[in-house]
Amino acid sequence: MEKIIAQSTEELALRVANEVAQFINGNPQQLLCFAAGDTPLLAYRKLIDMQREGKVNLNSMYYVGLDEWVGLGYRDRGSCAQVMTDNFYAPAGIDSERMVVFNGLSDPAQQCEKMADWISKRGGIALTVLGIGMNGHVGFNEPPASDADGCIIVPLDETTRKVSKKYFDTPLPVELGVTIALNELMKAKRVIMMASGENKRAIVQATINQPQTPAVPSSMMRSHPNITIMLDADAAEML
Ligand code: GLP
Repeated sequence: MEKIIAQSTEELALRVANEVAQFINGNPQQLLCFAAGDTPLLAYRKLIDMQREGKVNLNSMYYVGLDEWVGLGYRDRGSCAQVMTDNFYAPAGIDSERMVVFNGLSDPAQQCEKMADWISKRGGIALTVLGIGMNGHVGFNEPPASDADGCIIVPLDETTRKVSKKYFDTPLPVELGVTIALNELMKAKRVIMMASGENKRAIVQATINQPQTPAVPSSMMRSHPNITIMLDADAAEML
């Protein structure tokens, strides 16, 4: 496990964008899985800037969504589909046939099958960029993390339901998530897991310095053979 601590949120975003661009340039036409959530958005903006400067071709890759709130679709502000489409897929100019994301308005079991098929059709996930939830969730792999493969439907825990309010204009009664399972993310060739800000200090400490446990799903990712955990100084304060 490699750990990188950037001095600022800005520097963190730049370093993540550089890592991702380097990976894309060395591994074209492979499958990327990018988390929604607030943490990686600045890094995605920097990647789009890099594309404008001719440093990377984001449309040379394929994409799979990481997770979604069951019951929410693109029209719901704060859904993963809306956040990723408006902040990354659309401004980056990704062709629609290059990406498959969860539709939270469709039958979740069918959505899981659709995503698992796409992942296998593209030869597995090459690189995933993950955030760390306040309870250590990764995607919607809530504690305790399941040992299932593929994609799974997960009841959201209390912390996630509380935190969800920050994404929505009005609180929405979200109860389930659909997500690529932790085991599937562990099969990715390369993992970048990010956290920023002082409200992530305690969970970052549990992720990195405490014994690995399914009660902190992000700690399980430490076993990945090619993971870099990238933090800003605020998030790394308790390490
Ligand atoms: C959200 C999403 C995850 C995200 C994580 C952290 O609920 N389901 O994909 O990575 O929680 O979110 P944030 O970056 O906003 O803290």
